[in-house]
Formats: sequence, C-alpha cells, structure tokens
Amino acid sequence: MTKIDKNLADSRKVYKKAALLEATISDNPMQLFQTWFLEAEANESGEANAMNLATIGLDGFPKNRIVLLKRFTWEGFVFYTNYNSEKGKAITTNPKVSLSFFWQGLERQVIIKGIAEKLPENLSDGYFESRPDGSRIGAWASDQSDVVSSREVLDEKLKSFQEKFEHSDIPRPKHWGGYLIKPKVIEFWQGRPNRMHDRIRFTLDEKYCWKIERLQP
Ligand SMILES: Cc1cc2nc3c(=O)[nH]c(=O)nc-3n(C[C@H](O)[C@H](O)[C@H](O)COP(=O)(O)O)c2cc1C
Repeated sequence: MTKIDKNLADSRKVYKKAALLEATISDNPMQLFQTWFLEAEANESGEANAMNLATIGLDGFPKNRIVLLKRFTWEGFVFYTNYNSEKGKAITTNPKVSLSFFWQGLERQVIIKGIAEKLPENLSDGYFESRPDGSRIGAWASDQSDVVSSREVLDEKLKSFQEKFEHSDIPRPKHWGGYLIKPKVIEFWQGRPNRMHDRIRFTLDEKYCWKIERLQP
C-alpha cells in the first residue's frame, strides 16, 4: 500500500483583508449577515450560499454536510432537503442544529446555532414548483441517505419516475421540503494578522434582544 503521510505544519496564511469592529456593526446580526452575504456573493468564486449544516445524529455523533441556503429573512435561514434523510431524522429527534459559512476570499466565517422547524407546506410547494423538472424528478427518485445496491438501480429508479411524470405535473413529494433555522447564536469571524482574529458573538436573550460580545481569537 502507498504510504499516506502529508505534513501541513508549514501551511499557513496571514489574514489581513478586513476588520470587524463594534463601532461599525448593526445591533441586529441578520443585518450584518446580509451585508457579509452580499459581499461574499460579489467576491467569492464558489457558491456563497453553500453552508455546512451540523446535526446530532441518532447515533449520538455530530454530522456535517453542505446544503444550499435558499433564503434568509429576519426570521432565519432556509434550506431544502428530504425529510426522511439522515439529517431529517436527526432534526426530528433533536432540532438543535448549527450552520457555518466559510468565505475564503474574504477571510470570513459565520457560525449559527439555532432551532430547525419545517417550513409551512405552501412555501415548500412554491419553491418546489420553481425547480427544474430534472431536480423535481430527482426528489422522487432518491430515498436520500438510504443504501442502494448499485448505480444502475438508481438510474432505473430515475427512469421509472421520468416515465411516470412524462405527461403530468410533478408534485412535491410529502417527504421533501424546507427547514427554517431560527438563530439563537450567531458568531462572526474575521481573520486578522498574528492570529488575533475578530470574533463578535450575538446571543438572543429571553426578551428576544441580541446581546453582543467580543470573543478572544
Ligand atoms: C455544494 C453542495 C450543495 C448541496 N446542497 C444540498 C441541499 O441543498 N439539500 C440537500 O439535501 N443536500 C444537499 N447536498 C448534499 C448533502 O451534502 C448531503 O450529501 C445530503 O443532503 C445527504 O445528507 P444526510 O445523509 O446527512 O442527510 C449538497 C452537497 C453539496 C456538496
């Protein structure tokens, strides 16, 4: 077997693009999130809306995976998925989740802790209808996160749903839809020189006011 050993001890970068100072931020984190998101959209080469979603699984382990942010409002962050997937089952048991964004070009990270709840059906319907046919059929053909014996079996499933919906509308499967993550804590990280990064944490208190604190890097 080939030896596997890659030493990254000397791999380091100096972060110096910007600062995050209390004097310049709004007292609502969603406002700051919007500012950062628009800058990421304009500057990042990849998908600025790709976010890491961590759930606590039924096996007790945390698990991360990338999902796409499809909307954000004052209320929180929306993504779409299969409710029967591993993440869907995890959320049913424990709706406490974490989201994170890494905008590499801007040397920024945002980490959110929040509570996941299913979107109202009409909103999931509306988004599903906006998706291309291929994606809609895919939602029927994939029992997301279940084991499948081969690629061919998957391709056959896709084909059979393509035939089924060839001459009809493709409705939203009841097991597919959106989640809204209502934030409780939002932490903004801006890389700075000498590892003295800026970290500003917003925490929602019992009166629904955001407390702002600076954390050590
Ligand atoms: C760039 C990117 C975007 C993705 N977007 C989604 C998404 O919006 N919804 C989703 O269910 N899976 C998405 N996935 C796939 C998930 O990462 C994951 O493989 C899938 O949801 C199954 O996760 P689970 O088994 O932990 O439930 C995306 C993957 C990548 C790499």
